[in-house]
Amino acid sequence: MQPQDHEQFSHAVLPEATADEFARQEFVKSYKLHLATQVSPKTKTVYETQVKPSFEKEHGRTPKNRHEIRKAMNGNNHYQTWSSLLRTSQEMMWKSCQVSVERQWGKLVSEAKKKSSDKPAGGTLSLDPSVKIPRYLTAVDIHCQPGGYHTELVEDDVAPGAIFERAVYIYAMGQLGPMNDDMGASTIAYIQKTYPDFTPKRILDLGCSTANSTVPYKETFPDAEVFGVDVAAPMLRYAHARCEAIGVPIHLSQQNAEHLDFEDGSFDLIVSHILIHETSTTAFRNIMKECHRLLAPGGVVIHVETPAYKGMDDYDAFILDWDTYNNNEPFWGKSHEIDPPRAAEEAGFDPSKSFEAMAPSAYEAAKAKRTNVFQGGDFGGGGFWYLYGVQK
Ligand SMILES: C[S@@+](CC[C@H](N)C(=O)[O-])C[C@H]1O[C@@H](n2cnc3c(N)ncnc32)[C@H](O)[C@@H]1O
Repeated sequence: MQPQDHEQFSHAVLPEATADEFARQEFVKSYKLHLATQVSPKTKTVYETQVKPSFEKEHGRTPKNRHEIRKAMNGNNHYQTWSSLLRTSQEMMWKSCQVSVERQWGKLVSEAKKKSSDKPAGGTLSLDPSVKIPRYLTAVDIHCQPGGYHTELVEDDVAPGAIFERAVYIYAMGQLGPMNDDMGASTIAYIQKTYPDFTPKRILDLGCSTANSTVPYKETFPDAEVFGVDVAAPMLRYAHARCEAIGVPIHLSQQNAEHLDFEDGSFDLIVSHILIHETSTTAFRNIMKECHRLLAPGGVVIHVETPAYKGMDDYDAFILDWDTYNNNEPFWGKSHEIDPPRAAEEAGFDPSKSFEAMAPSAYEAAKAKRTNVFQGGDFGGGGFWYLYGVQK
């Protein structure tokens, strides 16, 4: 079945929505788009015409960074209203997906089990109950997702994965494409353009969640063995069932990306898509060291995130930083200040082989639809992904 451009791709474990549930979810998607395209630009006007002039009058200078802008904006009614509406949209998004998943919970669990035992595509799933969920994922409900990625309420639970797949589609306002795979596809396009002769044979995706970004690697490099790791068992159960349902063999295992059980030098491509901002400074260092250990000479690691604050207009950085303070994303801000050459060197790589790039979105429709407003739901890139990494 070919999905319509504006619809999410349906498969055996994607939760179905009744007409009412669908209307509720579509409302949240439209509401988020309205905030991004109609309300956000006015927030910037309020800053330029009211908050900035009054700061300048009081201090005799312009705000010097995003933190000063945030402190000045915190007292502004328009900003407070926009911020409250955005936070509400996030809570409504999770709730609208939870309701739908809760109604068909048993069916989703048994469908996932069936796909997992039949394995029509030939992928594998390895779960390890001894894996400890890191504190950066348990201390808060990450991005207001109730229970986060790891909480299991029934045996063989897949609910967090099912909720996440539908919620990501709404969060991105459909701009990750019908398969939510734009980050993987855009990174692959970057790899093919930058390293035209590179045909990776073993590929690892860190923090793969539902494997939405992992799948395009196997589709593009069909001879490669493709692996995905995640700490959260319910995400992986769902990811495995999803991969089998759509016929793409991926090898999934429950592991912490900070210390993995693969052999030294056993990969030629390691990727992550919006993982790093959800970890911690120490965890990122550990992950980079693992990448150095696991890559074969000439291998490449690429992390995909929203744009770094460096070089960005201070107001845009302040808006993109909203998630740090309002959306249970404690490491968001710090992760946007990562210095790729320094991170590469600390992990044992040659820093001169590190790189950063803004890679255009592979999903054509996203380029036209993206808002160019630097806020999380639009992934802040106006049609671009921020990639950074290093070649070993
Ligand atoms: C934002 S989601 C990633 C989404 C997905 N990669 C995509 O492309 O849409 C972050 C995922 O990373 C996982 N995760 C966080 N820290 C991890 C770690 N240290 N090791 C492995 N997985 C981790 C979480 O459980 C979650 O599923």
